[in-house]
Amino acid sequence: MALPAETAHSVVVSALRIVQATPVRRWLERGYRVADSGSLSQEVLGHTFANPVGLAAGFDKDGLVVPGMAALGFGWLEVGAVTPRPQRGNPRPRLFRYRKAESLENAMGFNNRGGDALSRQLARRHPAAAPLFVNLGKNRTTANERAVDDYLFLIERLSDRCDGFVLNVSSPNTPGLRDLQQDRTLGELVKRATAATAVPLLVKLSPDLAIDRARTIAARCVEAGAAGLILANTTTDYSLLPESRRMGGLSGRVLRERSVELLRGLAGDLFGRCLLVSVGGISSGRDAYARIRAGAHLVQLYTALVFQGPGLVKRIGRELAQLLSNDGFASIGEAAGADVAGRAGKGETT
Ligand SMILES: Cc1cc2nc3c(=O)[nH]c(=O)nc-3n(C[C@H](O)[C@H](O)[C@H](O)COP(=O)(O)O)c2cc1C
Repeated sequence: MALPAETAHSVVVSALRIVQATPVRRWLERGYRVADSGSLSQEVLGHTFANPVGLAAGFDKDGLVVPGMAALGFGWLEVGAVTPRPQRGNPRPRLFRYRKAESLENAMGFNNRGGDALSRQLARRHPAAAPLFVNLGKNRTTANERAVDDYLFLIERLSDRCDGFVLNVSSPNTPGLRDLQQDRTLGELVKRATAATAVPLLVKLSPDLAIDRARTIAARCVEAGAAGLILANTTTDYSLLPESRRMGGLSGRVLRERSVELLRGLAGDLFGRCLLVSVGGISSGRDAYARIRAGAHLVQLYTALVFQGPGLVKRIGRELAQLLSNDGFASIGEAAGADVAGRAGKGETT
């Protein structure tokens, strides 16, 4: 019988923590290195991304396995969500696998060791082998009216410890958090957050926003200084997985179509104006390539790693390089936005 999902995750993280401190890490690095014909590498937000495939937020909440996950081939990493004060998150069980649907349901609720612990951890890890982003959340007990204080606290603590921030206003597991996506509130939040740091800030949105609302909100974020958008967090549209427990956010294959739709819905306005990152149900080079053509310069994944194991990033890298070459593209930058109507004449984002 398989271990409960959260236990399995803890076992993997504990094993990686041990392994990454030994010479076995070099062996992993060699074994999982993404074949580099040069086409996958790009400069984004002032950093070199050896390949566009990132580890999505939530896998490494406390930044414990940065070298270990970089050794699995990820071109960039997002740790967190972190909140100012440590918190336990929701009661267990709170993470469920749906093997047939290659999907997960999680109601974790920002379980993490807090901003000071993450700051200490990243002091040893940054700069990392790959660009490192931190996903910022607010404590459950912080009222939305005070949310800005939580984000500013974290930005102050962590600006020297990472290459970028992700303002998370879209997790479904902290009551009221998604209400911060009201465009005025969010615009003000983004303005204050970007003014407080020299590090680029991305905003992560919910896939449950209607496209028109998402367009308004995204435009407001960019006007307020956000360097880009991450599309998207988990969904609470349980009709996508009838057997769901209806207690958290769904990720993985059931989210795929919705995530692509949101990217397409925003790319027409925003491609060339800010960085677009696509996440949700990516499990192959073909998926990643479609997102890039639809306007994303970077992608991320979490759930597919759980079902397909550690060789996934290498496989995606190989497939992606092949797909680019088949279509005559020498780089991600050339392919990015190829399917966006009116792309011609729009400048490079990066
Ligand atoms: C167990 C779990 C925990 C997550 N925690 C966070 C989080 O703390 N912050 C966040 O922005 N997204 C979090 N996510 C969402 C992922 O970063 C990602 O947006 C989502 O899972 C869709 O990608 P995927 O289909 O490749 O998993 C979490 C996802 C899972 C499965």
